[in-house]
Amino acid sequence: MKAGSKYIHAGTVPDPSTGAIMTPIYQTSTYVQSAPGQHKGFEYARSQNPTRKALEDALAVIENGKYGLAFSSGVAATDAVIKLLSPGDEVIAGNDMYGGTYRLFTKIFEKFGIKFLYVNMSDAASIEHYITNNTKLIWIETPTNPLMNITDIEAVATIAKKVGALLCVDNTFASPYLQNPLDLGADLVMHSSTKYLGGHSDVIQGALVMNDADVREKLYFIQKSCGAVPGPMDCFLVLRGIKTLHVRMQRHCENGEKIAHFLRNHSAVAQVFWCGFEDHPGYAVAKKQMRGFGGMMSFTLKDDSDANARRVLSSTHLFALAESLGGVESLINHPASMTHASIPREERIKNGLTDSLIRLSVGIEDVDDLIEDLNRAIG
Ligand SMILES: Cc1ncc(COP(=O)(O)O)c(C=O)c1O
Repeated sequence: MKAGSKYIHAGTVPDPSTGAIMTPIYQTSTYVQSAPGQHKGFEYARSQNPTRKALEDALAVIENGKYGLAFSSGVAATDAVIKLLSPGDEVIAGNDMYGGTYRLFTKIFEKFGIKFLYVNMSDAASIEHYITNNTKLIWIETPTNPLMNITDIEAVATIAKKVGALLCVDNTFASPYLQNPLDLGADLVMHSSTKYLGGHSDVIQGALVMNDADVREKLYFIQKSCGAVPGPMDCFLVLRGIKTLHVRMQRHCENGEKIAHFLRNHSAVAQVFWCGFEDHPGYAVAKKQMRGFGGMMSFTLKDDSDANARRVLSSTHLFALAESLGGVESLINHPASMTHASIPREERIKNGLTDSLIRLSVGIEDVDDLIEDLNRAIG
């Protein structure tokens, strides 16, 4: 099936009891058994739920994987992956990634004896210097949040395979419409389904997709033992969101391209971070592994003061000042004080995330209105 048909039909069959075309929201905590141990595959809703199962099957289909698992948030999905590890294990992670992932690694898991090394992943070969016998996981985000750096997934997968480490790719920014990491050799794909998969800013959820049955069993065990499962209503919302992913992503890409060029040509804008520019350092890799460049971008102003950035951030009308991304409505964000505030300032600045950086999640409104809104705000 081609992408458009896949997104609409993935994982869903008419409900066997009624023929309902939409997967019902099975709002139940448990399932009646005819005799002890005799049930229809569903025992207790932390372990299994039919709405979640339909979503998990859909997640596998849209990421070209065998197994999907849904979690109560993106960070809960990341948390489950790290729980595959043991004290003494090492993780190589990008030095430019979502602040909440960094916080989870440094503030929660380091104290349990897992070591994290933060590396510039733009040059895949440089990762080899950080590999030790204890390297068990490589964690990448590409494009990165918020600087839109690109990592060559295939090249990192080759390194990971050589040393027997798992490679997990946070595919939130690209979405499965633009990039499928499993096809490029990754072992695991992680999503904050809160973003493009849900697509309507009305749900918090996470996902993992994989091919290996053993890894799936371990992660399923973690999912049911730790209990960070999404409710059936939220699973329904993400299932519904997936049905229009291709249509929304096409428009996110079109609008993103126009806005990136508008910003680049604006006399008050200093630098625009968007991986679709031919002179972006990751352009060749992005072109190779992505089917488009998406609607996420960041920019800095020539008047690089915090006050000027804050003025712009507070002056848009269509772009709402809010955390999150990937919804139909456009959002504007200040990573230094919002999404990435949990990263120490020196660490942020060292990796290029300046105090005045502004991040946009370009939505699917009329692009002329969006440009006018930004033009007025930037001044
Ligand atoms: C790239 C990326 N990964 C993971 C997450 C965490 O997802 P959630 O907020 O659904 O827990 C986010 C949230 O912003 C994100 O942007």
